[in-house]
Amino acid sequence: MSNLKQKKKLIVDKILADKNRDANIDEVGIGVAPSNIALCKYWGKRDLDINLPVTDSLSISLADKGARTQVQISPENLGIDEVIVNGELCAFTSEFHVKVVKFLNLFRKSENQNFIVKTDVNIPIKAGLASSACGFAALVLALNDLFAWNLNDKELSILARLGSGSASRSIKHGFVHWSAGIDDNGLDSFATRIDANWDALRVGLLVLSDAEKSIGSREAMQISVETSPFYKVWPEQVADSILKTKKAIEIKDFELLGQTAEQNAICMHALMLTSVPPILYSNQDTIAMMRKVWQLREQGVEVYFTQDAGPNLKLLFLDKNVNIIQENFPNIDVIAPFGLNNVSETVKVETRSI
Ligand code: PMV
Repeated sequence: MSNLKQKKKLIVDKILADKNRDANIDEVGIGVAPSNIALCKYWGKRDLDINLPVTDSLSISLADKGARTQVQISPENLGIDEVIVNGELCAFTSEFHVKVVKFLNLFRKSENQNFIVKTDVNIPIKAGLASSACGFAALVLALNDLFAWNLNDKELSILARLGSGSASRSIKHGFVHWSAGIDDNGLDSFATRIDANWDALRVGLLVLSDAEKSIGSREAMQISVETSPFYKVWPEQVADSILKTKKAIEIKDFELLGQTAEQNAICMHALMLTSVPPILYSNQDTIAMMRKVWQLREQGVEVYFTQDAGPNLKLLFLDKNVNIIQENFPNIDVIAPFGLNNVSETVKVETRSI
């Protein structure tokens, strides 16, 4: 067994201990998880094998934008898992299929046990819109449902983290804080919900390109850790951003929230640009939209942006400015993380029957 598999397996076996790993073939597990956008970013791992971050991070979940996953044991002896995304069977050789199979290897009872995973994702996949975050979180929730593990939020967050770091935050709605932890075994690195709502807050998804990323975040963040001369100040920067963001949430200071998120994202992209080789996710439209945001701010409209490992921007604003934002960004998809859909603080797990 490779070192990587062994380290992940140790965590899974510890959390699942003597829990059930079998289900009838007519049973299905369902998990629904929101996508999340980091306001204070995670960029760099202290343990690459088990996705342990260098720093804490803080995100906002995107209500009903995310993944709904159904999982069941395969009734046929195909010898391979089937992964169906938005109605389409993934090629067995595709990068995504391989990633999901590797993740499922951590959970199967025996090599003969295969799964059928059906996922519907309502955000563009692989374009820096956290589709892997909601995908792995929903898969963990679906497995928890299928096998009736009744895991708590901490355990669910740790398991989701093994699929993708940011998935640890997609276990909860609202503002979520992922603590980096200090233990080498990774059992103290998980996300918790911040006990606060902000009904007027809006997040706008500005999809400028839904093309696949030029370089995946896993590889890119490692290059930054190893080569950016500014990486050494990043942990301090994130710690400061988190303090300010928590304060902003507590006292509902939107300017502080937006300023902090925008600056944190720019700092992360500065790490990327100063990496060797340089990493640049922005395209011309990204830059044009950033300028537009700054121009609007000069005109007195309170709007800020954040950006992840892709060219798309996410805008932060308040509900009172929805109209002016939509006038300026006609294709924007406006999300109310706390409002409209009456989102509960825990992610939804639907009924188990087919
Ligand atoms: O969890 P990953 O490997 O998809 O990395 C996420 C990295 C960023 O989206 C850029 C930042 C973050 O905290 O979500």
